[in-house]
Amino acid sequence: MERLDDRKYITKLDKAKMRMLIGGLPGQFSAAGKSFQEANLSLRGRYTSVVVAGMGGSAIGGDLACARLYSDFPAPISVVRGYEVPSFVTKNTLLIAVSYSGNTEETLSAFQDGKKRGARVVCIASGGSLMEMAKSESLPFLTVPEGLPPRCAIGALTTYILLSIGLAFQVPGYAAELEDVADVLKNMRSALELDSPLKENPAKKIAGNLVHKLPFVYSSCRMTDPVAKRWSTQINENAKSLCHYSNLPELDHNEIVGWGIPREVSYASHVLFLDPGNLSDKLKRRLKVTKEIVSQVAEAETLTAGGTGDLARLFSLIFLGDYVSFYLAMLNGVDPTPVERIDLLKTKLREGQ
Ligand code: F6R
Repeated sequence: MERLDDRKYITKLDKAKMRMLIGGLPGQFSAAGKSFQEANLSLRGRYTSVVVAGMGGSAIGGDLACARLYSDFPAPISVVRGYEVPSFVTKNTLLIAVSYSGNTEETLSAFQDGKKRGARVVCIASGGSLMEMAKSESLPFLTVPEGLPPRCAIGALTTYILLSIGLAFQVPGYAAELEDVADVLKNMRSALELDSPLKENPAKKIAGNLVHKLPFVYSSCRMTDPVAKRWSTQINENAKSLCHYSNLPELDHNEIVGWGIPREVSYASHVLFLDPGNLSDKLKRRLKVTKEIVSQVAEAETLTAGGTGDLARLFSLIFLGDYVSFYLAMLNGVDPTPVERIDLLKTKLREGQ
């Protein structure tokens, strides 16, 4: 575990500087907010639904927007991870096609499908076919800075998605909320960074609890569902480890029964409950009781968000999780940046075309 305080070991293993990219998250909100203003998109129209199409690191911003807008937005919002958009998509749908590389086949296919159905499309990419098509067809387009692993552009992508939805539906105020997120994350950063030692650094401690374990990330409510997914995918991609995520209250009606078998898996698991910090009394009680039951066969701990607004709460947990996945990569002895299997898969699929 001492390796987490060893700057030489960490800088050597972190060849492509994932730690710097994670630490750069707070800066993405205002930079993307500024680029959004400069793009001066015209999205005027009468919309009855929103669809965000994307995969992996490009889709999660859509889930975060959905979580944020669930309780005060007038239209349904869906995130599509796949080749086709739902049949409700019409000319009154705002379709936001997001692919960091601009070349992800599922997203390109959903984009074409949505256009066929007459949807109003906004494209978000750093380059690739999506950018080319958006430009050649003069579609509203937002560009993300090149050269990042897509999952590291989460702040910029979420900003673009939220601001596009706000503009199309004429709901102001999301830009200010995003600024608040940046402030909360900036305040958290020094406690999570490399110079903060293991005994004081929450991210290093959690990574230490997860090493040689199967992490289970349990969301305590609808709001934290995409955060649990993000924790899990960051542990997959950065720490190159399996990770399972699930959500309350649903898991209390099925998954909770499964704890105990296989016995070895239960004892080798570590459960992280994500608490947004503003749970209703009902959900607080549910989290407590579920944790007590699960703790009979597995280690469990609760992580509570910082900040006051919904977006700040979500991103404070994401920021913590991104650092945890980084330190877990260090403990697993792997370079967090390359995702060789994703690259291999995409190459093989392209070769088959
Ligand atoms: C890689 C990553 C992946 C990609 C996904 C889709 O950092 O997070 O999940 O996001 O393979 O690719 P893009 O984002 O280029 O459409």
